[in-house]
Amino acid sequence: MIRDLTDDEARAALPCKWGEVAPDVLPAWVAEMDYAVAEPVREALLRAVTAGMTGYPPGGAGGALGDAYAGFAARQFGATVDPARVVPTVDVTAGVRIVLDVLAPAGGLVFPVPGYSPQLAMADVTGRERLDLVVDPDAERAELDLDRLDRFFADGARVLLLTQPHNPWGRAFSRAELEGVRDVVVRHGGFVVSDEIHAPLVLDGREHVSYLAVDGTADHAVSVVSPSKAFNTAGLKCAQLVTASDLLHERLLAAPGIHNDSWSVLGLVAAEASYTHGDAWLAALRRRLEDQRDLLVRLLAEHLPLARLRPVEATYLAWVDLRAYGHDDPAALALERERVRLAPGHDYQPGLTGHVRLNFATSADRLTTIVHRLAAAVTLPPS
Ligand SMILES: Cc1ncc(COP(=O)(O)O)c(C=O)c1O
Repeated sequence: MIRDLTDDEARAALPCKWGEVAPDVLPAWVAEMDYAVAEPVREALLRAVTAGMTGYPPGGAGGALGDAYAGFAARQFGATVDPARVVPTVDVTAGVRIVLDVLAPAGGLVFPVPGYSPQLAMADVTGRERLDLVVDPDAERAELDLDRLDRFFADGARVLLLTQPHNPWGRAFSRAELEGVRDVVVRHGGFVVSDEIHAPLVLDGREHVSYLAVDGTADHAVSVVSPSKAFNTAGLKCAQLVTASDLLHERLLAAPGIHNDSWSVLGLVAAEASYTHGDAWLAALRRRLEDQRDLLVRLLAEHLPLARLRPVEATYLAWVDLRAYGHDDPAALALERERVRLAPGHDYQPGLTGHVRLNFATSADRLTTIVHRLAAAVTLPPS
């Protein structure tokens, strides 16, 4: 069910991931998958284009999209979502920004770091101070430091930008961990924006727990969701804002339309098709990603035995600690010496050395070549 794209197909399909690198470079950087789009999504898009559906999307909350997402959340996460409180928005980045601009209280923004690189600028563009909740690179397990979070809120922070599951930590936070976050936030009257773009990509049968599915969060949180990472449709532009309280929902709808007016009609079609008809493909995808992840673990053990990779519980992005090889920027070396493009760790945590983020959503052959090349690049002495 999961079809690997050939190199030529991938170049045509993924102009960012494959088009922004030279022809001899293997891309394993941006979070897109080298797999063909799920058939039900492709068919829905073809029908829409054939019908000439290239105009404005219908506006408003709920509707077919709300029903589709609520059904998906019930089946996939066992979560109860009110379809009427599902609001389209252009993408997750824009959705997080809208929540920060129109719903969250003014004040410092706590950001777990290393974190999704474009969001490092989120505090700045929303007029806030960024407070980095840093995970120790030597920690056995990547966990949210609740004591530090408590101190940030005690010192005046107002909002937490949570990523659940986490990119690049690869963690799917448990209900107990999220309850710990909730307790801190509630103690200080804070607010949470929960970026749940990777929710469908929880591996090994683990449960995705939405922050909104934790008791006592409805009045202080919004989750931002999208099928775009799991269904490889990031270019189509239709994410969703989900609230669990009437008050937050009404405030969101009351915000001037200019905050939220640009999702696309084809994105809407793809989102509805993914949520309604994508379960079987998604199940196959998760199995495939588990195989890819396991292959990566074996390849690292064989070719880069000093590399450290914490268990990847979710996403198709591996956060690899290569500090033992003694290079500040292994991603730059891999590109320069061996023509493989990885995402440099310092993009996710300014100043951090020796880490890369490796996208393993590709073919087994390419993943093998990526690790061989990375190993050749970092095991040569510094030049
Ligand atoms: C955690 C996280 N949030 C947001 C995004 C970007 O989402 P969008 O393209 O919908 O803005 C990504 C992309 O990889 C991501 O990993």
